[in-house]
Amino acid sequence: MKKIIVLISGGGSNLEAIAKACQTGNIPASIELVISNQPNVKGLERAKKFHLMSKVIEHQHFNSREDFDMALLEQILPMEPDLVVLAGFMRILSKNFTEALNGKLINIHPSLLPDYPGLNTHQQAIENGDLMHGISVHYVNNELDGGPIITQGALKIDPSQSEAKLISRIHKIEHAIFPKVIADIIKGFISLHGDQVKYEAESHFGPNHMEFFNV
Ligand code: GRF
Repeated sequence: MKKIIVLISGGGSNLEAIAKACQTGNIPASIELVISNQPNVKGLERAKKFHLMSKVIEHQHFNSREDFDMALLEQILPMEPDLVVLAGFMRILSKNFTEALNGKLINIHPSLLPDYPGLNTHQQAIENGDLMHGISVHYVNNELDGGPIITQGALKIDPSQSEAKLISRIHKIEHAIFPKVIADIIKGFISLHGDQVKYEAESHFGPNHMEFFNV
């Protein structure tokens, strides 16, 4: 059985979507460990609900980013995961970390990258009067929310709707796309070669794939 490790910092709704897909066999892998850098977050309760092993590694307890990342790696590498998934993990990772997991590390980001790396993406999209907003799933490299994009999901912004409503629409897209991408990676239908994403014919996705969602 292929092994996944999921890193979270908060709510864990994406973790739940991934855990469900593992349970139903849509993702032919098991979540071997959930790591949170924050204690007492809802994502840890969700991990429990799915009987997943979880561990809190608080970044505040480390003197530097590198030390924290080293502690993460000491936990992750001996487990020999096939894939490490950043699902709402709100930490910038150092080069050592991203290089140690090159090709096995993916992130979901709530914007149509390269627009709005970093925080407050929804607010920025609304304030700029954007017509479209969305999510990106990408391999992680050394740049903040950088790295080769695997796929994107987009929606039309309704300017009369609140930011909270937009966030909940964005979550729906995330929960639809992320488990599918993970399944394709686990099945070997998507992989990273240098800085190029390679898609096999069986993949749900392909180069420059952007799906529009009416959510
Ligand atoms: C998601 O919107 C994800 O794109 C971003 O953080 C949020 C995490 O949500 N990186 P959850 O913790 O999975 O509910």
